[in-house]
Amino acid sequence: MAKAINIIQPDDWHLHLRDGALLQSVLPESTRHFNRALIMPNLVPPVVNSQDAIAYKQRILNVMPEGAKFEPKMTFYLTEDTDPKDLTSAFESGLITSVKLYPVGATTNSESGVKNFDNVHNILERMTEIGCPLCVHGEVTDEDVDIFDREAVFIERILDPIRQKFPNLKIVLEHITTINGVEYVKSAEHNLAATITAHHLFLNRNHIFIGGIRPHYYCLPIAKREKHRLALREAATSGNKKFFLGTDSAPHLDTLKETACGCAGCFTASNTMALLAQVFEDENKLNKLEGFTSRHGASFYNVPPNTGRLTLIKTDEPVSFPKNLTTAAGNVTIFAPNQAIYWRVSDNTT
Ligand code: DOR
Ligand code: ZN
Repeated sequence: MAKAINIIQPDDWHLHLRDGALLQSVLPESTRHFNRALIMPNLVPPVVNSQDAIAYKQRILNVMPEGAKFEPKMTFYLTEDTDPKDLTSAFESGLITSVKLYPVGATTNSESGVKNFDNVHNILERMTEIGCPLCVHGEVTDEDVDIFDREAVFIERILDPIRQKFPNLKIVLEHITTINGVEYVKSAEHNLAATITAHHLFLNRNHIFIGGIRPHYYCLPIAKREKHRLALREAATSGNKKFFLGTDSAPHLDTLKETACGCAGCFTASNTMALLAQVFEDENKLNKLEGFTSRHGASFYNVPPNTGRLTLIKTDEPVSFPKNLTTAAGNVTIFAPNQAIYWRVSDNTT
């Protein structure tokens, strides 16, 4: 039986577009379905000031596919040297939408991240005053903390003290992976939300090791136990406005993932919407999909929902997604879900 749903066009509130040849090839994978995306600043070197953000935005616009209406929303990479004055003018002029906090060493290109959180208090204070949201990679990097505990420990040791000190600072806990993250966000009265990726709704930590090591299921924060995955699915499909989509689509060349020390990241821009339709249908919550992908994030960032629409169609046979994206720099593997997907985005989406 044919079945279709039509929703407000979605936004991606956490996206890695990279630069150069990779940017040019991955950008259409996002512009095809999404109207806006929050662009992560972890380039080498990172996007740390207005000059960098203007230049990076221009490089994105320069390779925009013809006819695309996509709006890249830029971010600064928070460092201990971020200039509050520059940040203020960048936010107030609309150049940036938020600031991203990476604890030093937490993930790909986080070498310039924050070591001592006390050293960014003046910046957080200014962000509070001007209403600029802080997007947080919520993992501690202390070597003595187990990789599977890093999110829970971050919430306790870093995030909660920041929220106590700056209760009026708007914060997004990015790509949550644990029941601890879900509960913490649910319990906050205001000014706290979380993004959830599609891949964390499919993967638990076993999936990374089934039949051998699977580098394309390795991302950060790493997938956790099954009970955490189930909590994420419940949160994403619940209709709670504090949870919204940020794909964390993070392309890396296959040569850099399929190697002795492979990079973290799943490339999901191409098939996220189909994957999510499957999740929401499996949870009997298709009626909550639009909130998660197209309303809650816009509301958090104080922008109107998109006027465009997107149609998803239920298929009789499992959909076979392309295995990879060819770029001038090499191949990038597209996230292959660990279950059959019976949804695809309609070509007639407006
Ligand atoms: O898996 C990840 N990849 N997690 C991140 O936080 C960064 C991202 C990347 O930039 O590759
Ligand atoms: Zn990311």
